[in-house]
Amino acid sequence: MLRDPAIVISGGTGFLGRYLVDAFLGAGYRVGVLCRASSPREVLDGQEVTFFEADIESATACRLALASARESLGDFQMVHNAALVSYRECDREALRRTNVDGVRNVWAACAEVGVRRGVHVSSVVAVGTSPAGQRIDEEHPFDGHALGVEYVDTKWAGEQIALGDHGSMEVVVVNPGAIFGPVEATSNTARFLIGMAQGRIGRLAPPGGMAAVGVWDCAEGVRLALERGKTGRRYILAESNPSSRELFALVGELLEGRDPVWCTVPGPLWSLLCLAVGLTARVREPAMTTPQAMRMLGVRFCQDAARARTELGWNPKPLRGVLSDTIRILRERGILPR
Ligand SMILES: NC(=O)c1ccc[n+]([C@@H]2O[C@H](COP(=O)([O-])OP(=O)(O)OC[C@H]3O[C@@H](n4cnc5c(N)ncnc54)[C@H](OP(=O)(O)O)[C@@H]3O)[C@@H](O)[C@H]2O)c1
Repeated sequence: MLRDPAIVISGGTGFLGRYLVDAFLGAGYRVGVLCRASSPREVLDGQEVTFFEADIESATACRLALASARESLGDFQMVHNAALVSYRECDREALRRTNVDGVRNVWAACAEVGVRRGVHVSSVVAVGTSPAGQRIDEEHPFDGHALGVEYVDTKWAGEQIALGDHGSMEVVVVNPGAIFGPVEATSNTARFLIGMAQGRIGRLAPPGGMAAVGVWDCAEGVRLALERGKTGRRYILAESNPSSRELFALVGELLEGRDPVWCTVPGPLWSLLCLAVGLTARVREPAMTTPQAMRMLGVRFCQDAARARTELGWNPKPLRGVLSDTIRILRERGILPR
């Protein structure tokens, strides 16, 4: 039996978005996807979804698209997942327009068409950092501005908008860690795994570490937050918090049965490397190892998902299993060598 009300997912054709579509369809919801004219709708071929078109940078487009969703789906709940994920200097303005103005546009349009409840997909980067490796939770005062990373600042600012006053509309926030799962060859996760498999990455580990989660569990966490989360509350979705050294060792073991890491680069040396990358980026900014991405790799994120586990009943799979599944699927797809 189909569940009511329906769900509209922004960015449903993106990496996490596709798994969100699966999770909600699998749970019996009718699903609408809010995406751009240029978004790759074919990734959802065979899925029973209705598309609504808007670039979230446009308040008018959001209003029209969600009014049309209301007309065709009736009452719906919103999952605002679309965002620009970039650490490139040249994307500064676009990050503001998408992750701050876009959030305002989507939630304002939702309030206008009478959406009663929704989930806002934020990030652990909007919670804060753990310089001494201590676990922090949802109540931690945000300290991420000091990083000088536009993605971090804009995800935090967008979350503030989502947590603001929307009249009677209820909004719950989730803060996923770095998401691992099967992706296209061009994604950062696949590039990282390909680089590890080819031995180009992994000998030297950056000094930082990340909160991590599998894409299937992240999607399930969003669904649980919508169904069980408390209004105005944040839920960290992180299964574990490996240092880069631990992550590289785990991936190396799963790929080729051995730990490839020679050493962890000491923090002060990493800072010098970041400076050098910053200088060369003034001439030509690289696509991946940008100064902001390098700075992020030097930061420790270590977060406690106890609230999601107890209040939502969220029970994520250990990272080892997630990475092992991811590597197997990417090998089957020919993205990683066997
Ligand atoms: N990946 C991670 O490790 C991670 C970790 C924590 C939190 N998150 C959060 O999770 C969410 C999904 O991230 P992801 O990794 O799945 O990113 P992704 O693959 O890049 O997907 C982003 C989606 O947002 C859409 N989008 C971007 N700008 C838009 C605009 N102006 N108007 C309409 N749609 C737009 C994209 O559509 P197009 O195809 O048209 O560009 C795409 O469908 C984001 O909110 C991100 O901040 C991600």
